[in-house]
Amino acid sequence: MSIKGKKIAVIGAGHMGKAMIGGMLRAKTAAPKDIIASRRDEASLSELRRLWGIQTTANNKKAAASADIILLAVKPQISRAVLSEIAGRVKKSQLIISLMAGVKTETIAKILKKPCPIVRAMPNTPCLVDAGATAICAGAHATEKDHLSLAAEIFGSVGQVVTLPETALDAVTGLSGSGPVYIFMVIEAMIDGGVKMGIPRAVAAKLAAQTVFGAAKLVIETGKHPAILKDEVTTPAGTAINAIHVLEAKGLRSVLIDAIVAATLRSQEISRLYAD
Ligand SMILES: NC(=O)c1ccc[n+]([C@@H]2O[C@H](COP(=O)([O-])OP(=O)(O)OC[C@H]3O[C@@H](n4cnc5c(N)ncnc54)[C@H](OP(=O)(O)O)[C@@H]3O)[C@@H](O)[C@H]2O)c1
Repeated sequence: MSIKGKKIAVIGAGHMGKAMIGGMLRAKTAAPKDIIASRRDEASLSELRRLWGIQTTANNKKAAASADIILLAVKPQISRAVLSEIAGRVKKSQLIISLMAGVKTETIAKILKKPCPIVRAMPNTPCLVDAGATAICAGAHATEKDHLSLAAEIFGSVGQVVTLPETALDAVTGLSGSGPVYIFMVIEAMIDGGVKMGIPRAVAAKLAAQTVFGAAKLVIETGKHPAILKDEVTTPAGTAINAIHVLEAKGLRSVLIDAIVAATLRSQEISRLYAD
């Protein structure tokens, strides 16, 4: 099944909702006439119309009723209120895609009280620059052929997509959902290191960000294990091996593993809060 010509309602057109709309339009996954966005703030809605020529409304029920696919992008804290609001308008033929962190498909199904297919996604903020990493999973009534494929097209407009069982989504939140934050901190620390050793801050920032980007590109494009790439540039008695010794002694790898475990455990706790 293809997404072409399908009507898509983005409920909660904030940061992530806008990232999805912008990505779908750039990739021509959807045309402006096929997208309707909802949020409460009229000025922001008018800006969306001006920017992209899409339809907008402050009425979630109206947005939901007119769509083949409903993309839920409000904050998890108000998920119950928004789902209850649209429940009366949702039809079982509509595909529900949620990118709300920690809200299980089972919880969504219970509130909607309709046997519609539900797909849950965990994207990350690099979706804003078409370099996102998104995991999708099928909930009740969702099939690979008819529903995950549509979600993969939508999130494929803004980066890479993988399919996993829903039980893995908390770990995805810990790894790639929250992951950009860890790398921002790495970049910030590398900039400070460069400044400490005499490089002007703006130049250090450019070098640090491009180094992280380039290293990621090498891993992706060569398909080599990162340990091989590391070994290939580690000259005997050179500079990199001295730095590696310090990074190992200070526990860089353990600290990142611990951070992913901590974020995953917190995601599991939050998921329990949003379950009834
Ligand atoms: N940011 C991330 O890295 C990330 C990653 C993965 C998943 N997510 C998920 O993405 C979702 C959105 O996050 P975000 O960062 O995009 O938040 P956000 O920028 O605050 O966007 C949420 C939008 O919802 C709108 N809204 C609030 N109440 C509403 C209502 N009753 N009806 C319709 N719209 C309403 C808000 O606009 P108004 O005030 O104008 O209504 C706001 O623009 C969350 O569930 C989050 O868990 C985020």
